[in-house]
Parts: sequence; C-alpha cells; structure tokens
Amino acid sequence: MKIVISLGGSLISLSDLEYLKKFAEFLNKHKDIDFYIVIGGGKTAREYINAARRLGAIEKYLDRVGIEVTRLNAMLLNVFFGKTIPHTIKEAGKLSTPVIMGGTTPGHSTDAVAALLSKEVKADMLIIATDVDGIYDKDPKKYKEAKMFEKLPIKKLKKMVGEGWKKAGENVVVDPIACDIIEKEKIKTIVINGKNLNQLENAIYGKLFKGTEIVV
Ligand code: UTP
Repeated sequence: MKIVISLGGSLISLSDLEYLKKFAEFLNKHKDIDFYIVIGGGKTAREYINAARRLGAIEKYLDRVGIEVTRLNAMLLNVFFGKTIPHTIKEAGKLSTPVIMGGTTPGHSTDAVAALLSKEVKADMLIIATDVDGIYDKDPKKYKEAKMFEKLPIKKLKKMVGEGWKKAGENVVVDPIACDIIEKEKIKTIVINGKNLNQLENAIYGKLFKGTEIVV
C-alpha cells in the first residue's frame, strides 16, 4: 500500500521532539506500507517569509524561503532515516521508501506537493495531517461551536478555500492548488490530526477514524 502524508508544519516543533521520534517509530512499525512524507514549514516558514517580505523580497523569492524551511523540517525527521531529500516529484517517485521531503517549486504549498506526489506514485491514499481533528465550518481554534465535517465534497471545500495561489506563507486548511489536483486526479484524500497516531493508523487500515474525508 502506498500512502502519501502531508505533514503540516504546525506539527513540527523544536519544543516537541518527542513527536518526531514517535512519528519515525510509526513509520518503522508499518513496514508493509510505502510511506511518502511531505513536510510543511509551519510557523518558522511564516516568520522567515514575513522577515524577508519586510526586507523587500518579491513573492517568488518568499516562496523559495518557505521551501528552504520545509526542507529544514524534513531534515529533522530524516535524522531517523538518513535518506536523500528529493527536490522534485520525479526524483521522489524514484526513491525507495520512506521518502521524506519538503517543498519543490514556488507557487503552492506542501499540500500540493503531496497531491502531485500521490498522482506520480499512484498512492492508495493522501492523508493531510494537521493540528486539528479535520476540516471545520469555521476555525475551531477561534470558535468553540465550530463543527467538523465527516465528509466534505471537494466542490464545497474549493468554495471554502478560494481559488489559486495567493501569497507565500498563506495559511488555509488545504491549499487551493492541491484541491484542484485532488479533484482532477480523483485522489482519495482525508484530513486528520497528525498528533493522534492511533487515528492515523485507523485511517490507513480502513477502520473508523476521527477526521474529514474529502469526497471526490
Ligand atoms: P507550507 O507547505 O508549510 O505552507 O509551505 P502552509 O500552507 O503554511 O502549510 P503548513 O502550515 O506548514 O501546513 C510554506 C511556504 O513555502 C512555500 C510557500 O510560500 C508556502 O506558503 N512553498 C512551499 C512553495 O512555494 N512551494 C512548495 O512546494 C512548498
């Protein structure tokens, strides 16, 4: 089974290295699965992007700053695997698993990289792992009454996130470019809380899980 995971940068924190250890153990435990892990830049990427923006950098340059941070985060997980971190989808598709990588080119987020990689390796499932339990009707960190969708049609998600790439460091639940790829390629996609490795396991093995299934 081939599984691509877009591991949100929000899950990578220098003050929670235990999580990275547990995540690496999780990958090692499931030797039957070919894992492709695409790691985001999170808060660190946004801080660097904002700093470079204040210094006057143009958008493409800001995206490249973000990409470097995603690769830096990928290097943290890669401590446990010591593999080459690919810079392109083609390269990633040719490597033995687990594949660990960050961004590729400007103009999208690592969600889109994960969607493109899913297409390239013909993944059984794309898992977007973030720091909340799934996709909500409003920001669950701001609104207590926010409701999580168990199933969400891709068309509705696209309406929620808007169209096209906006700017470096933009933070939406699923990048609109990734939504387009998921829709076009009909990629089986779910959004779950990456901190909860039990739920991740349930989702992978087709058991009941807490999260949102994107219906394509
Ligand atoms: P992320 O994938 O981390 O964006 O890339 P994000 O939406 O903030 O996701 P989370 O919060 O980590 O899950 C950080 C930035 O790096 C650039 C973009 O500017 C993006 O906003 N980037 C990343 C690219 O331009 N291309 C890539 O392939 C990846």
